[in-house]
Amino acid sequence: MTRTAIVTGGASGIGGAISRRLAAEGTAVAVFDINAAAATTAADKIRAAGGTAIGCGVDVADRAAVEAGVAQVRSDLGTPAILVNCAGVTVSGPFLELDLDTWNRVLATNLTSAFHCCQVVLPDMVAAGWGRIVNISSSSTHSGVPGMAAYVSSKSGMIGLTKVLALEFGRSGITVNTIPPGFIETPMMRGALDNGVFDLDKQVANTPVGRIGRPEDIAATCAFLVGEDAGYITGQVIGVNGGRNT
Ligand code: NAI
Repeated sequence: MTRTAIVTGGASGIGGAISRRLAAEGTAVAVFDINAAAATTAADKIRAAGGTAIGCGVDVADRAAVEAGVAQVRSDLGTPAILVNCAGVTVSGPFLELDLDTWNRVLATNLTSAFHCCQVVLPDMVAAGWGRIVNISSSSTHSGVPGMAAYVSSKSGMIGLTKVLALEFGRSGITVNTIPPGFIETPMMRGALDNGVFDLDKQVANTPVGRIGRPEDIAATCAFLVGEDAGYITGQVIGVNGGRNT
């Protein structure tokens, strides 16, 4: 049976790798990204590799846009059975200089987006008696990171949302888990390294497996969690971080 997945932030980095991995395993993938052109390109590449995918320009912080995107998925690919909330932005700077607009934007993109996407797709999953949700949080929630109050708060909220939804929907055949990635080589991380937020050598030295993570490391764990074999795993925080936070 071909299942349909929505991957938010699926045009780049971790979301891109998840989209490709799920498609390679036979899932029809809807790439949701605020960058509509990049979403289209990502879907084109999946189709060129033999997979099934559509690209949707969706700002996941916008409820109406999420509803329109999910409606398109239902008509083009079928009812979504898998949701990966991966879209995110990062902002850094001293807490006392963090303005309310920035705080609200980060919370809306990183956390309220998952509220929207989960509320819109869960009724279909409940009706089907099967569903998988994976929320991409962050290893920064384990320790905190100076200068990243909005980001770390939003990602901590993803963990709480995961646990509540796991409890509410377990009896409907739906699992909800969160992966907090740690230090993965993506355009977002490249920006943080270039801006001096993180130092590459120091971060690698602090990583027990001795390397920066790859988007494919997260995609492999996500693919397992959305599969049939992971049906007894829910409400869990599955760290994929090279051993940085144990
Ligand atoms: P990335 O910047 O390469 O990809 C993020 C994608 O999200 C981009 O394609 C962007 O256009 C999209 N996006 C941003 N705002 C959006 C919105 N409002 N609606 C729809 N799409 C939107 O970043 P990366 O590193 O792949 O991050 C993916 C997720 O993993 C993020 O949630 C990030 O916070 C999280 N993460 C990444 C870590 C890393 O080391 N790279 C570590 C911990 C968490």
